Amino acid sequence: MNATALATPKAPVYISIPLESVPTVVALPYSLYVRLGEKYILLRNIGDELSLERHSQLVEKRVDSLYVLEDEWGAFVGSLETALSTLGSEVPSEQAAVSARNVLFAYWKTIEQKRSIQTQMLGDLQDIITKLSLAVRLDEGLAAKMVRRYSDPNLYFANHSVNTCVYSMALGVHIGLKRDDLQDLAFAASLANIGNIRIAPEILYKPGPPTKEEWDVLKKHPKEGETLLKLLLVPNRIHLAVGQHHENFDGSGYPRGLQGEEISQFARVIALAEAFSALISPRPWNGALTGPKAIEMMQTMKGRFDPRILNMAVSR
Ligand SMILES: [Fe+2]
Repeated sequence: MNATALATPKAPVYISIPLESVPTVVALPYSLYVRLGEKYILLRNIGDELSLERHSQLVEKRVDSLYVLEDEWGAFVGSLETALSTLGSEVPSEQAAVSARNVLFAYWKTIEQKRSIQTQMLGDLQDIITKLSLAVRLDEGLAAKMVRRYSDPNLYFANHSVNTCVYSMALGVHIGLKRDDLQDLAFAASLANIGNIRIAPEILYKPGPPTKEEWDVLKKHPKEGETLLKLLLVPNRIHLAVGQHHENFDGSGYPRGLQGEEISQFARVIALAEAFSALISPRPWNGALTGPKAIEMMQTMKGRFDPRILNMAVSR
């Protein structure tokens, strides 16, 4: 018996994706699974399509996520990128912007899965964000429509990153950022929590509230992200914003206790956007708030946010 025969077959790895990112009535270049308890059941094979009727049934059953095999992840991302070709220089349709969102989501999921990011990937991410920020500039109401809430905790980090990015863009447009500034803000916002890939999965994905010690570890993500992006040579104002996005306007934040305008404008915008995204998403220790309730709560967090930007967020 040779070594190959002795090797244990690798268990398949399934990656969660939002139901909305699966197109209907199109031959799928990947197979699709649903999860039942600990089991994954084949829903559609490669070459099959997801009918509108089946899609509606899943929505009715409140299924918000499906699964693809890790080996077929590239085919899934590729199919999303094809859908992006509808996003041109014309005023984008909501569907085209949702395609951009889905691609951004898939990129974040890949980073989360591989727990690493390379220069090539940063370049691809930037291309998507350029398209997405163009879409948001052309249609200011688009960002609010693109924010999604998923109840599946497996979708939390990618969803949270995309929501933070989309909300930051909406605020950026509102405070009058120019095109290049808006793109850099969106890029920084989408990477704000990249430092999480340096945090032990047992702490990051713990299905319950973190202990005091675990919070201390989680609070390292801004600094870890800044260091990682510096190594990848991203522009200064982007890694600075990532490192400062948990600083509070009154100086009570972390990691450096900066205050007021010592904190970069990008970081002050991202802080608001990230807090909003976290409040509207269910966590193991917290229920999700509605948008208006989240804004109400943020207004009570005196001193945490730049009051000028908070007022703008509230008046939206
Ligand atoms: Fe964060």
